[in-house]
Amino acid sequence: MARILITGASGLLGINLALEAKRVHDVIGVDRGKLKSAPFRVLHANLLRSGSVNSILDSTRPEWLINCAALANLEMCEEDPEQARLLNTELPRELAAACAERNIPFVHLSTDSVFDGTKEGVYTEEDEPNPPGVYSQTKLDGERAVQQVNPQAIIARVNFFGWSLGAKRSLPEFFINNLSEGRNVNGFTDVIFCPMWVNHLAQTLIAMLEKDLHGLYHVVGAQAMNKYQFGVEVARKFGLRESLIEPQSVERSGLTAKRSHNLWLSVHKLSTDLGREIPSFSTGLDGFYTQFQQGYPQKIRGYQQATT
Ligand SMILES: NC(=O)c1ccc[n+]([C@@H]2O[C@H](COP(=O)([O-])OP(=O)(O)OC[C@H]3O[C@@H](n4cnc5c(N)ncnc54)[C@H](OP(=O)(O)O)[C@@H]3O)[C@@H](O)[C@H]2O)c1
Repeated sequence: MARILITGASGLLGINLALEAKRVHDVIGVDRGKLKSAPFRVLHANLLRSGSVNSILDSTRPEWLINCAALANLEMCEEDPEQARLLNTELPRELAAACAERNIPFVHLSTDSVFDGTKEGVYTEEDEPNPPGVYSQTKLDGERAVQQVNPQAIIARVNFFGWSLGAKRSLPEFFINNLSEGRNVNGFTDVIFCPMWVNHLAQTLIAMLEKDLHGLYHVVGAQAMNKYQFGVEVARKFGLRESLIEPQSVERSGLTAKRSHNLWLSVHKLSTDLGREIPSFSTGLDGFYTQFQQGYPQKIRGYQQATT
């Protein structure tokens, strides 16, 4: 059992990772105050406040640190590039350096969207990134800052789905919320990605730490699909009307931040170094649906309420 510090514990990845990790490990989450009654220890802190990183590490003495804190909303990054730089580049640099000084294995979360998506075929870790916007540029700068100050760190480029505290953070939640109200939605046919169920991602990150891996990895689902296909799969699994999903081009979406068209990433390096297959998309979707049947979305939302 290891004591794991997870930053961004109220986020989509952070909350699910903390719950998955706490089955075996001692988890301490850091958030900014949303989590009032989570079933693991939570510290409230603004990590951008000077001195907070060192003081949290000194008081908690973690054996592993997984950094899930970020400004991960692409439109907000375009609106506030300075905040994006602080959270996506400078905070990872500070955390990585503090972990290097203390010999704490460190995992930093990056993104598939460091690539511009113009390649035909699959991207490997050897391919040169070319970030299309503020979010992806600040994330790539974060990767490089982490590599520079802490060459032992794991940098995981991810794309994942799961249930979130606010019920809106994740792509399947978008489809489920709208389709269950009978609303039409667009599904982009020209954005290819490799979604991984967040619990599979959590298990994989822990396995990478247990195996003492280092360096850059693509940690995404094993199957590439477009976002329209993803919506259809979700609709079928949840018994919702797939005909409400309009096949559409992302170029006509009106989104301000530019999206990459092809984010098909190879998981060959990951599965080779871990010595195991990456779980299939359908297993992940089954797991996500089972959580729904078991009331998991309501349970995690309840962590925002104080116990009386
Ligand atoms: N979602 C995806 O599919 C996806 C895809 C590719 C890469 N990623 C990467 O995966 C990681 C996790 O993403 P996510 O979707 O879980 O993000 P998220 O849901 O937006 O969560 C971000 C977390 O960071 C926290 N945070 C923000 N500013 C902070 C501050 N000043 N001090 C302390 N905590 C702060 C947030 O706290 P509050 O709740 O208080 O705001 C929240 O807990 C990120 O590095 C992201 O770039 C995500």
